[in-house]
Amino acid sequence: MQKFSLLFVLALVVLACGGGEDTPSEAPKVTKAEPAKKEIDVKKIWKVRCIACHGLYGDMGTNGAANLQESTKDLEYRINAIKNGSENGVMTAFGDILDDDEIKAMAEYTMTLKKE
Ligand code: HEC
Repeated sequence: MQKFSLLFVLALVVLACGGGEDTPSEAPKVTKAEPAKKEIDVKKIWKVRCIACHGLYGDMGTNGAANLQESTKDLEYRINAIKNGSENGVMTAFGDILDDDEIKAMAEYTMTLKKE
């Protein structure tokens, strides 16, 4: 008897979970709904957003922009500067313009401008 009622409960659970025929099968479609990791074109962002002050190679220094070829600031400092603007307030905060991934990519890009 106990075994029977257990089966009964199991059957109910299965039905409740949509074992019935009226459930449309929702096999995952093979379309690319989610774009694989978005490509961030750092050079393009650089040319559009940053070049006016830092110059193509990071050493132009318009408006007292930091010389990125000589900067010894670490990644964290750079991410913060890009996101919230420079300490002296000259550089715009890009936190509203670029997303976190882009900001990080830009910070990493500025590290590569460094001259040995
Ligand atoms: C309006 C001019 C201006 C623009 C546009 C600008 N910057 Fe700056 N940037 C500055 C100034 C000024 C400083 C800080 C100078 C200081 O604090 O001594 C700075 C500092 C930085 C620093 C910190 C380096 C250091 O040594 O202090 C990084 C990294 C940086 N900028 C990256 C960028 C990136 C990336 C962009 C584009 C998304 C950008 N900047 C756009 C003016 C600008």
